[in-house]
Formats: sequence, structure tokens, C-alpha cells
Amino acid sequence: MRKNIVAGNWKMNTTYQDGLALVSEITNMVQDEVTGPNGVEVVICPPFPFLFAIGKQLPASSRFHLGAQNCSEKESGAYTGEVSAKMLQSVGCEYVILGHSERRQYFREDDELLSQKLKAALAAGLKPIFCVGESLETREADDTFNFISKQLKDGLFHLSNEEFDQVVIAYEPIWAIGTGKTATSAQAQEVHAFIREQIARAYDAEAALNTTILYGGSANAQNARELFSQPDVDGGLIGGASLKSRDFTEIIKSF
Ligand code: PGA
Repeated sequence: MRKNIVAGNWKMNTTYQDGLALVSEITNMVQDEVTGPNGVEVVICPPFPFLFAIGKQLPASSRFHLGAQNCSEKESGAYTGEVSAKMLQSVGCEYVILGHSERRQYFREDDELLSQKLKAALAAGLKPIFCVGESLETREADDTFNFISKQLKDGLFHLSNEEFDQVVIAYEPIWAIGTGKTATSAQAQEVHAFIREQIARAYDAEAALNTTILYGGSANAQNARELFSQPDVDGGLIGGASLKSRDFTEIIKSF
């Protein structure tokens, strides 16, 4: 069965010292307060330079996991400034976020490049958290479903069944990211159910049932419970609120 996941995407925030302090607060609070049947996986995605140290600081338990925010599509070689999937795996990463709208928008990552990054991540044994989501313009033009369906087809559905099994999907409407404007739980549920339907078509019903689909976009301690109560919402990819230990812990407790 699919997992529930709360992933914190720190983006380009914190210093090394602040990052270490933040992760220690989070792990302490979660260990003290999240008990009982809450089986949610917590994935911490700090900036590259802190990955190794933060990974070392995560308690050895099935609860905490380390993720990166991006990786190169290349395996190794003369690519100054790039970070390969294998490097990430070698410092303890299990997950990597790919196709975040900020990467698509500011770094011109398109479906073709993302396909290559997915392959590179999977070849290195990483689990991709693959992001899709429409702009406000697309939503207002009533074109959300077409748009998401194309992102899934062009970016993701070229994977084999075995490869696809490793993938987590994050639905992140661009208009909700960092804006304080969250999708309503009904809007999130509608798109999540649609994504699951597309998976069933591209693969099969079992793959659709087993795929974790996260919601991202101004999710916070106040709205998480309502969002996570939707049948097709399996957790969240959290930006701003993942930088505050109290808020992030409350989100994890929302399950
Ligand atoms: P936000 O970011 O929670 O700050 O809106 C979510 C994301 O971009 O992953």
C-alpha cells in the first residue's frame, strides 16, 4: 500500500548552523509528540551543502529520510557546478525532488530534461518526488486537467513499471506556492483523483493505488488536517512551513 509522507523542501534557505538547529528541533519534537499509529514518513530536503551533516543528524528510524532538491541528468564528468544522483545517494539521500515549478520556471527545465533526470535518479537508486502543477492562467482557462495530463505523459509515463514504482508525485498548483493561497481540499482532491486515474491508464489499477501523491502549495499547520483527510491526498510537500519546527511538526501530526 502507499505511504503517507510529509516532505520539507527548504529551498535556498538557512545557513549550515541554522539548518542543523532546525533539524534537531524537528526531530526532537516529532520523537516526543508523534506517537501511536501515525506511520507518516518525514523527508527532510535541505540545500546540497548540508545534506551529509543533516543526514547524520537524523535519528536512525524508519520515520526520517533525507532528500535533495534537484540532481543532474548526467552521470559524472566535466559538468562544473553540477551534482549527480550517485553523489546524493552516496551521502545518504533516499529521495530527490524533480520538476519543481521553480526549476521549470527559473532554470528552464523541460519535460525532456526532466525525463533524463528521472532516469539518472532512478539509476542511482533514488526515489524521485516528481512535481506537477498548473499556473493560475491555466486554471482560469479551465485547462488544468489537460495540462497535468501532458506533464505526466511527457515527463513521467515513459518509465517502466518497475521504475514507476519508485516514484512519488507531488501536485503543486503554481498559484498556491509561497502565496499563502492554498488549494481548497476539494480542488486538491479533484486533481489528485485525476492523477491517480491517469496512472491507472498508463500503468494499471494497482500502480494507481500504490502511488503516493502529495499536495504542495501553502500547506500549513492550519489547513493540513483538512487536506490530508482527502482520500487521494497522501501527504504534503511543504516549503515555507517546513522552516518552522513547530509548524512542520503540527503538519506531521495532522495525520
Ligand atoms: P510552500 O512551497 O509550502 O512555501 O508554498 C511548497 C513547495 O514549493 O514545495
